[in-house]
Amino acid sequence: MANSVAIAKAEELLEKLRADDGSPATRAIVLRQLEKIRISVQQPPEAMGYYTNKGLMMVLINLCVQLGVFDAFPPGETASAAEIAAKVDVDVSIISRFLRALLLEGLFTPAPSSAETADQSTRYAHTAASLALHGPDGNDLWRASIALPIDRYWKNGSDYFRTHTLAETQDPLRSAFAWSTGHEGLGFFAALEQDRVYAPIWKRAMALLAKYQLAVVGEGMFPWHTLREEVEAEGGKRPLLVDVGGGKGGASVAIREACGGDGFGAEVVLEDLPIVLEAEGEEVRIEGVRNLIYDFFAGGEQPVKNAHVYYFRKVLHDYYDDKCQTILRQVVKAMAPTSRVILCEYVMPEGKDLGGDVFPYLLDFLLFMVGGLERTETQWRQLLGSVGLEVVNIWRLKDSPLQADIEARLRTA
Ligand SMILES: C[S@@+](CC[C@H](N)C(=O)[O-])C[C@H]1O[C@@H](n2cnc3c(N)ncnc32)[C@H](O)[C@@H]1O
Repeated sequence: MANSVAIAKAEELLEKLRADDGSPATRAIVLRQLEKIRISVQQPPEAMGYYTNKGLMMVLINLCVQLGVFDAFPPGETASAAEIAAKVDVDVSIISRFLRALLLEGLFTPAPSSAETADQSTRYAHTAASLALHGPDGNDLWRASIALPIDRYWKNGSDYFRTHTLAETQDPLRSAFAWSTGHEGLGFFAALEQDRVYAPIWKRAMALLAKYQLAVVGEGMFPWHTLREEVEAEGGKRPLLVDVGGGKGGASVAIREACGGDGFGAEVVLEDLPIVLEAEGEEVRIEGVRNLIYDFFAGGEQPVKNAHVYYFRKVLHDYYDDKCQTILRQVVKAMAPTSRVILCEYVMPEGKDLGGDVFPYLLDFLLFMVGGLERTETQWRQLLGSVGLEVVNIWRLKDSPLQADIEARLRTA
C-alpha cells in the first residue's frame, strides 16, 4: 500500500533539491526532509534498527578516532587497509573488518582506481564525512561532542533521577554532570576544569564551534549599524557594549566590527572570569576591547554603568530562572533609561509546534545535564519581566529562526 505521507514528503524533497542554491541553510533543509521521509516510512523494527545501527556506528567511530584511523593518511592521498593498519598498530584482519562498516556509512570511499567492493587490494580515499573526523580539529570536535557526554555526563545514567529532586536538578551545583563526575558542589565550568582529559578538548572545540553557534550578526538579527546615531549623538562617551560572560570575546569583536569597525568610537567591554580572560598562555588580548574581570554571581552590581547594550550570548541558558534573576538584577541597576539588554539565545517553539533542526532540542537535553535549559518566547518574556525588563523586539536569524536576539529595555509603565 502506497505511503501517501512519505510520497508527499519525497515530492517536497524534490522541490527543495531543485531549489538548492548550495548554501548550508538549504543543505540543512534537504537533510531534515530526508529524515522526515525516514520517520514516515519506518515501522518499529526499522526504528529500532536505525538506532541500533547509529548507536553501534558511534561506538565504532569513537574507537577509530581513538586509534587514529581517520588520521592514518592525509586528505588527497589514498591508503590500503594494510597501510592504515600499520599506521594505527592494529592487525590488518581487524582493521579491514572495521573499514567495511565505515565504508557503508560514507566514511572513506574506495579510491577511483580500486574495485567497488573492499578487498585486500582496495585503496581508500577520504570523504566529506571522514574529513570531518580528521586532524586535531576533527578529533577535538568528536571528543567534546560525543566522547565527553558518553564518558562523563551519562556515566551513571538514570540513577541521577532516583537520587535527586526536581529542585536539585535545577541547581547548577547539583547537576547531572557535577554528580556524574563526582563534583557535586561545583558548577559546570568549575567541574569541567577538574577534568584534565576533557577540559582542554572542550575549550578547543568550543572555540572551533563558535562560528557555527548562534550567529552574532546576520540577516534578521539585531541591526547593530542602526546604533550609530544614538552612540555618536553622545560623543561616544557611554560604552557601546558590555559583553557579559563573553568568553574569548568573539561576539565583542563581531559587534565592534558591525558598528563601523570601531564600535562607533565608543568602548567595548569584555567581562568574564579570570580563568577565561587570564588563563595562563591563553590570555585574551583584543585590540579595541577592554577586559574586565567580573563574576556575575559574586561580583555585585554590574560595574559598567549606562552602556548602550548589555549583551549576553549563550549565558542565561546555562541557568534556571532564580540564577538568571540574580545576574539580570545587577545589570538592571546599572542601566540608563535608554540602555538595552540583548540576549543572543535560542527561542524554542511553543507547545507542539516543533520543527526545523533537531540540534536545539538536543542542546536543551545537554543543558539539562549541566543544570540549564533552552526557553520559549513565553519563558523569556516571563524571566525578563520578573526583573523589571520588557521585551521590545525579538530579532530572528532569517536562515535559522530559532536563533534570535531578544532585545529588552527597562519597563517604563
Ligand atoms: C556558554 S559560555 C558563552 C561564552 C560567550 N558569551 C560566547 O557566546 O561564546 C558562558 C560563559 O559564561 C562565563 N561564566 C560562567 N560563570 C560566570 C560567572 N560567575 N561570572 C562571569 N562569567 C561567568 C563562562 O566563563 C563562559 O565564558
